[in-house]
Amino acid sequence: AAAALPALGLGARQRASAAPEDLRFDPKNYDELTTTITTDEGDRTVVYHFYRAVTYVADPVDAKYQCLNVSVPVRINGNPVDATRAPVLLANAVGGYMPSSVADATGIGGGGPAGAPPPEAGGPSGGQRVSNPELALAAGYVVVEPGARGRTLVAADGTYYGVAPAAIVDLKAAVRYVRYNHGRIPGDVERIVTSGTSAGGALSALLGATGDSGPYRRHLDEIGAADASDAVFASGDWCPITDLEHADMAYEWNWGGNPLSSGELVDRTVSRELAAAFTGYQASLGLHDEHGRITAHNYDEHLLRTYLRPAASAYLGRLSEADRADYLAEHPRIRYSGGQAEFGWQEYLEHAGARKKSAPAFDAFDISSPENNLFGAGTTEARHFTQYSLRHTGGDHLAGDLPATLRLMNPMPFLAEANPGRARHWWVRVGTEDTDTALTIVGNLAAQLRQLGDDVDAAMYWDAGHATNEDAGAFIRWIGQVTG
Ligand code: DHB
Repeated sequence: AAAALPALGLGARQRASAAPEDLRFDPKNYDELTTTITTDEGDRTVVYHFYRAVTYVADPVDAKYQCLNVSVPVRINGNPVDATRAPVLLANAVGGYMPSSVADATGIGGGGPAGAPPPEAGGPSGGQRVSNPELALAAGYVVVEPGARGRTLVAADGTYYGVAPAAIVDLKAAVRYVRYNHGRIPGDVERIVTSGTSAGGALSALLGATGDSGPYRRHLDEIGAADASDAVFASGDWCPITDLEHADMAYEWNWGGNPLSSGELVDRTVSRELAAAFTGYQASLGLHDEHGRITAHNYDEHLLRTYLRPAASAYLGRLSEADRADYLAEHPRIRYSGGQAEFGWQEYLEHAGARKKSAPAFDAFDISSPENNLFGAGTTEARHFTQYSLRHTGGDHLAGDLPATLRLMNPMPFLAEANPGRARHWWVRVGTEDTDTALTIVGNLAAQLRQLGDDVDAAMYWDAGHATNEDAGAFIRWIGQVTG
C-alpha cells in the first residue's frame, strides 16, 4: 500500500477547507527513545518523545512526504527537561530538490548513526553531515523534521506532482501545522528556527523570507494546510542553491575562468555572455556594503573582504604554527602575517580549483539539470526557465506560468520588498570551495538582509566543499541567544 500512487488532488476537490480536528496533534502518541549525542560540551544521553509520520495537511497529495516527525527532550544526562517553552528547530533534509520522506525514520535524524541523513531523504551530497537536529535535541530544543514532495515524483497519469512550488508549499504547511498546534506540540511556536542545506538551504531561506506571503495561499489551501501563520522566527541556511533564474549568470561571473573538473571544455562564448549579463542583474538589486554599491565590478573585493580573507584567517589562526607553516608552503597563493590571510581574487580562484558544473550551470541547454526538472509542469518532466537558454535552443517565450513559479522559489524578491512576515534572524554559511553555485548567491542574500536591518550571522568555511557544516555547535548556541 505504501508504494501505491496517490490519487492526485482528490481530497482537495472534495473539501473546500481543512476540518480543524483533522490537524490536531495528539500529544500522547509517542515512543520514548534514548540516544547519546556527542556535542562540543561532551556526550549527552537524551531521553525523548518521538512522534513519527504525522500528516501535516488535511488533503495530502502524498502522505509519505507530507508528514513530519517531532522529537521532544524529556531527560538529558538524567536531569528532567521541560521543553514547553523551548525553541523549535524545523530541520528539513531536502537534497537536490528531490522528494524527502521522514515516514520510515526510527528516531531523530532518521534514527541511524549520528550524522546520517534520514532514509530516502536524498540528502545534499558531498559534505560530511553534522546533525543539527540531534545537537538541537541535546540542547533541550524541540525538533521538527518535515518531509516534502520533490521534483521526481510522478503520478499514475504521468503528472509530476513534486515540481515547483510543491516543496516550499509543503514546508510552509508544516510550519502552519506546528503553529496551529500551539499548546499541543511542546515548544514555543513563536520561536521556530528553520534549517537546511543546499536545496534544503534554499528552502530554509524561502521559509525565512516568505512568511505569510499571499502568493502561496492558494497552494496551501489546495492541500488543506492548517489555518495558521507560516512565519518563522529565524532561518539557518547552508549553501542555499537559490535565485535559480539568475544563477547561470552568477556562476559564470564567479567560476567562468576556472576549468571543469572533468577536463571537458566550457563554451567560452556562453560563459562570457552569461557573465556579462550578471552586471545588469547585480545592478538591479541595488545592494551595498559599508564601502558602497556591490556591483559586478567590485564583487570580488566584497567577497574577499567580507568572507574569504576572514575565513582563511580564522582557519589559519586555528592551526598550530607547524601546521600553518606546512599549509602556507603547500599553498603559495595564500599569504599570512599578523593573524591576517592575504590573497587576491585570481589567487583565490586558482586556489579553489575546478568548477563543478558546465555552462549554463543550471538551465542546461539539453534540459538535463535538476533545476530543469524542478521547473517541469503537468506531464512535462523538465523545462527551460531562463530566456537565455530558451532562446539558445530555438525557443521563444517562457511558459506563461513560469514567472510566478520562479518567484515562489526565490527568496530575493520577497526580501527586496521587505516582506513584513520574514524572519529577522539569519545564519548563512557556505564553503569557499563549494562550486555548486556562485558565492554571490550567499553574498547577495546576506547583503539584502543586512540592508533590511535584520540580524545576520554570515560566514564561509575556508577550503570546505559543498554541504559542509563546520560550526553546528555554534549554530545551536546562536539559536539559544536569538530566541532567549
Ligand atoms: C543540490 C546541489 C546542486 O548542485 C543543485 O543544483 C541543486 C541541489 C543539493 O545538494 O541539494
